[in-house]
Amino acid sequence: MIEFHNVRLVFGDQVVLDRANLKISEGEFVYVIGETGIGKSSFLRLIYMDILPSFGRVRVGGYDSSTIRSYHIPYLRRSIGIVFQDFLLLEDRTVAENVAFALYVTGAKKQMIGPKVAKVLAEVGLSAKENAMPGDLSGGEKQRVAIARALVNDPVILLADEPTGNLDPAASRDILAIFDRVNRRGTACIIATHDYGMLVQRPGRVIKIQNRNFYDVV
Ligand SMILES: Nc1ncnc2c1ncn2[C@@H]1O[C@H](COP(=O)(O)OP(=O)(O)OP(=O)(O)O)[C@@H](O)[C@H]1O
Ligand SMILES: [Mg+2]
Repeated sequence: MIEFHNVRLVFGDQVVLDRANLKISEGEFVYVIGETGIGKSSFLRLIYMDILPSFGRVRVGGYDSSTIRSYHIPYLRRSIGIVFQDFLLLEDRTVAENVAFALYVTGAKKQMIGPKVAKVLAEVGLSAKENAMPGDLSGGEKQRVAIARALVNDPVILLADEPTGNLDPAASRDILAIFDRVNRRGTACIIATHDYGMLVQRPGRVIKIQNRNFYDVV
């Protein structure tokens, strides 16, 4: 479902990945670890084709980085949910509006939006907060809004960049429990993390980025 073939990624004179190969299958639960600045966020960006490799190719679903056109990228992203560390919520919209926004932009039918938003907010345990403003939420609640927004389009792949980076252990456990449930329903989860507690709480495949390549940690 995701394949990196001989990928080279360069920023200026800095080589982040070189001849890197990797396959991730449907429904996998994957952690991506490695030192700060090693390329974890860049790896996620390659998957949603926010950046393209300097050499080699990245294939995701039916799309190939070497042939994709910019107007295909929104279609690719419909099958990918993305959770950013800093939430990126719209501060002047309610929780429900933040989640609904992700549906509007994909052209969902109006009558589908309300029920879908309610369902996904229930899934992340935020039904009671649907009319709250982001500024009135805790960090863990904001992150759950960001996850609801990533899930509302029923993605095949969920990407999360250090989703527990700013959260206390209890909030982190809640977030990981949501990813676990989502994965059990068949969504592949790919989580960049520094939080080794996660790997113990919910074991999964661990890919380490090192020496400009990927290594399975077993
Ligand atoms: N747009 C960019 N332009 C130039 N250099 C970049 C760009 N994006 C990333 N880099 C560099 O590429 C390297 C990998 O960055 P990346 O953000 O992927 O690392 P990371 O593993 O996610 O780090 P962290 O754990 O701190 O989040 C870093 O050295 C970074 O400075
Ligand atoms: Mg990063």
